[in-house]
Amino acid sequence: MTRSTSYRFDTKLIHSGYDALRHGSITPPLFQTVAYPFASATQAARIFAREEDGFTYARIDNPTCQILEKRLAELEQGEAALCTSSGMAAIFMAAIHLAEAGDEAVSCNRVYGGTFKLFTTTLPRMGVKVRLVEDPTSIEAWNELINDRTRFLYAETPSNPNLFVSDIQALAQLAHDHAIPLILDNTICSPALQLPLGLGADIVIHSTTKYLCGNATALGGAVVGEKDFVENVRADGYRNTGPSMSPFNAWLTLLGMETLSLRMTRCSENAMAVAEFLDENPKVRSVNYPGLPSHPQHNLAKKQMTRFSSLLSFVIDGRFDEVASFMDSLQMITSATHLGCNQSIATHPASTTHGQLSDEELMAAGIHRSEIRLSVGLEDLDDLMEDVGHALDKI
Ligand SMILES: Cc1ncc(COP(=O)(O)O)c(C=O)c1O
Repeated sequence: MTRSTSYRFDTKLIHSGYDALRHGSITPPLFQTVAYPFASATQAARIFAREEDGFTYARIDNPTCQILEKRLAELEQGEAALCTSSGMAAIFMAAIHLAEAGDEAVSCNRVYGGTFKLFTTTLPRMGVKVRLVEDPTSIEAWNELINDRTRFLYAETPSNPNLFVSDIQALAQLAHDHAIPLILDNTICSPALQLPLGLGADIVIHSTTKYLCGNATALGGAVVGEKDFVENVRADGYRNTGPSMSPFNAWLTLLGMETLSLRMTRCSENAMAVAEFLDENPKVRSVNYPGLPSHPQHNLAKKQMTRFSSLLSFVIDGRFDEVASFMDSLQMITSATHLGCNQSIATHPASTTHGQLSDEELMAAGIHRSEIRLSVGLEDLDDLMEDVGHALDKI
């Protein structure tokens, strides 16, 4: 598809990376296979040496995964993308490609619980020290943790679950002043709402499990960036450890992604209304939503996001009993540990997704024990309001 790079975003969601005429199917086909036939020994050698286009083995590449990779790269305005088995696998692949034993990295302390644990337990066991910035609003605080062993800066914006917004341009500038890359997790916005590479980030991470797929059917992740970087990750850590996305998950993700723009618009509108509703309820102590003027980084969010996405969190006036009462009184909104899908989902991070964090770590990451995360879906707004209102009445 030579024309697709010039298409606009919503067209790319449906057409990029795929030539329907060549494949004879208007829907991208599912290549549910692990291996590909070679026409000759010479061709096999050329494909493996990357002297000729072609597929080698499904741990390394697959035609359905490749359509998703090309589409994601175009959507994020990157040169290339690599699909992984999960968002965590994408973060791990990028991190271990850049840092080895004895190296360091600097990360915002407001990151998803799994990322936090990867940075504070798994990578240190491999000899990579990740220094966490305790006041990530201060670029000086970031700068102070960088030394000659630092191999990358890492941020997630907005962060899960407390919606901290990092300044992508300022962090990219800082990273480049030190000749290192900025890795940016764009899961909560998706490229429909924020384009980190255009703001200076070097590598974008996705948990495609969330908004990109959108219907909670397929786990997956992606690394997007310069072609050399992405293909070197594929040829090295990815090929040697095997965190590949299954073709079926790539196919489901492609189908889900077709409606990304429509979904991000609708869920952002619903989330804004729910955030305003919660903000006025006396049983709610505080609401974190980048779209609310009271959010500490609201102006920054307005600058780098086109909408505010569907994730919000709020602190209930009470302890675990009150949290449990709210969660158990929800009738339509699902209680689960997921976000970014068509149905609304409520989660209590401190006892589930972030249950691995100690009290001190929770506090440092700005997560309150009575904080509830709400991923607002596409349901009718009146039904959403009624459900939230009814559950708050039960406290
Ligand atoms: C912002 C963010 N990044 C990464 C991940 C990890 O993604 P996965 O569950 O696909 O491994 C998550 C999971 O919730 C997330 O919220």
